[in-house]
Amino acid sequence: MKKIVVFASGSGSNFQAIVEQLHPKRCEVALLVCDKDGAYCLERAKHFEIPTFLFNPKDYLSKTEFEEVICEKLSQIEPDLIVLAGYMRIIGKTLLDAYEGKIVNIHPALLPAFPGRDGITDALNYGVKVMGVTVHYVDAGIDTGKIIDQLSFKRSDEETKEEIINRIHALEHELYPKVIARLLKV
Ligand code: GRF
Repeated sequence: MKKIVVFASGSGSNFQAIVEQLHPKRCEVALLVCDKDGAYCLERAKHFEIPTFLFNPKDYLSKTEFEEVICEKLSQIEPDLIVLAGYMRIIGKTLLDAYEGKIVNIHPALLPAFPGRDGITDALNYGVKVMGVTVHYVDAGIDTGKIIDQLSFKRSDEETKEEIINRIHALEHELYPKVIARLLKV
């Protein structure tokens, strides 16, 4: 059975979509790594009985130090893929070196346009008419790794920001589990 580990910092709706569509039949979601105490993704993990590793970056002197601890956890699992799903940190050298080519992320915009923390707002402020989501490999940059897949839609001028956000999330929940299954060949 192939194993994945999901990293999240917030709501965890993508984490839930991945669990619901893949776990445990097609792959095992072996661990949720979370850097935010109280984040709703932890509740979702509890509900699905997925083990969690919660850490507070402030308890460590550096990114290297907490990534070494994460690597130690991961070495007990030997995941086939690390899946970032709303993990609001840049992956450092420690994790990248250990899992090169095995870390993927989802971004709520059509990269290479609108990378960074708030791709949806940036795209809306720019006034784009075609929006979408991107799954990409993770490298040392911010949303700069090789693109794996994308989905897009044409928005109407009547749609509110909230409606657009919901549409983008729905696309993410459709695309991400499919891409993960394809990469794992499950
Ligand atoms: C998603 O929009 C994802 O594209 C971005 O962070 C958000 C996470 O949402 N990287 P959720 O926590 O999965 O609900």
